[in-house]
Amino acid sequence: MPPQDAPFPARLDASELAAYWLPFTANRAFKRRPRLIDRAEGMHYHTTDGRSLLDAMSGLWCCNAGHCRAPIVEAISRQAARLDYAPSFQAGHAAAFQLASRLAKLAPGELDRVFFCNSGSEAVDTALKIALAYHKLAGASTRTRFVSRERSYHGSCLGGTSVGGIAQNRNLFEPLLDTIQLRSTYSRERQAYARGEPEWGGDLADGLSAILALEDRVSIAAVIVEPMAGAAGVFASPQGYLQRLREITRAHGILLIFDEVITGFGRLGHAFAAERYGVVPDMICFAKGVTNGAAPLGGVVLRGRIHDAFMQGPEHVPELAHGFTYSGHPLGVAAANATLDLYRDEGLFERARALEPVFADAVHGLKGAPHVVDIRTIGLAAGIDLAPIDGSPGLRGARAFDAAFFEEDLVIRAVGDTLVLAPALIATEADIDAITSRIRRILATLR
Ligand SMILES: Cc1ncc(COP(=O)(O)O)c(C=O)c1O
Repeated sequence: MPPQDAPFPARLDASELAAYWLPFTANRAFKRRPRLIDRAEGMHYHTTDGRSLLDAMSGLWCCNAGHCRAPIVEAISRQAARLDYAPSFQAGHAAAFQLASRLAKLAPGELDRVFFCNSGSEAVDTALKIALAYHKLAGASTRTRFVSRERSYHGSCLGGTSVGGIAQNRNLFEPLLDTIQLRSTYSRERQAYARGEPEWGGDLADGLSAILALEDRVSIAAVIVEPMAGAAGVFASPQGYLQRLREITRAHGILLIFDEVITGFGRLGHAFAAERYGVVPDMICFAKGVTNGAAPLGGVVLRGRIHDAFMQGPEHVPELAHGFTYSGHPLGVAAANATLDLYRDEGLFERARALEPVFADAVHGLKGAPHVVDIRTIGLAAGIDLAPIDGSPGLRGARAFDAAFFEEDLVIRAVGDTLVLAPALIATEADIDAITSRIRRILATLR
């Protein structure tokens, strides 16, 4: 290993490159022209070949306070020296309880119990399993199906893949869990160039009533939705949509799960998007921004009444047969406690709210640039749809991504032909301007 501050080699040899199968990556293209990041700081990455890249994606929607923030780095390093690991089954450590209590206070309404895991995918599978078990304990064992929404992403485990609404993420793995999908709320004809929650589409939540009319009404355990679908390309829920889902689920004894893995911790200007919408779901899945991406940690915050339903039977028997070796891992917990301090001390959720219109103006300024057919913004997130190349969907997006990385020193995401932006909440107006100017230059020459 090189000394801590020496850069990693700019080049890897062929066998090193071959050994690592990268997730959600075009591996052959990557290995022909690797993108290797060496260091990070604030809004920037530094590559092994000495370039400085502006990070317009907060890592992968997770480094909401910017990279390598000193208080978080120090908290992790102090924790590693003091308690590297404590078993999470049948033991614990105080900081995990303190973190749970802080998260419960940040969450809305009666959501005051927290179950920890390591990622968003595990958080989703945890929430789905809790929903199934909750109904079974209540004697409603016919409630085994889930309702989710087209164009959604709920992680890569089998539960999350089952409720996910992106066809190419599901096709190779079917059959999956029994799920029914609500229609996507996106309509380019009716919502093009939307800022914030589109006016059209709230009524699509009534699709849930239509599903219930066709189904045996007691077959549905839970509805899971992202308040804003991020990974699929930034689709805000239309005005009134989440409120209506809440009304229908409440009326029919169905649990409502918000997957806030992306929308939590400031992306939409609040600790949780539930607050932005004034809707209290039954469970919220979180991960990513809770540790500012500096260590893996995820979890579910849920209503006390759901937790309490499990607290029965003999007291020496675990009430929920579920969990992970690294649930509440000391390093993740230390990172999360330091991250929550930073968000509070720097007022970053408020800052995101203040920046939302500035960001929207800048990104919507790309309307009319070559290839652009729609732009959506909400909070500090944007999706920019490019017209696909005939017969090669995704190729234009991939080219734009490469041009950003290699020619414009800019890290964005491309989801098919949609360019996605999610800058950190510390971004300045100059950073936002740099992001959009670089994208404008890319579009001007993009084939
Ligand atoms: C809404 C949502 N849920 C779940 C996940 C999965 O999280 P992870 O990659 O940490 O497993 C993601 C990841 O992007 C996500 O956006």
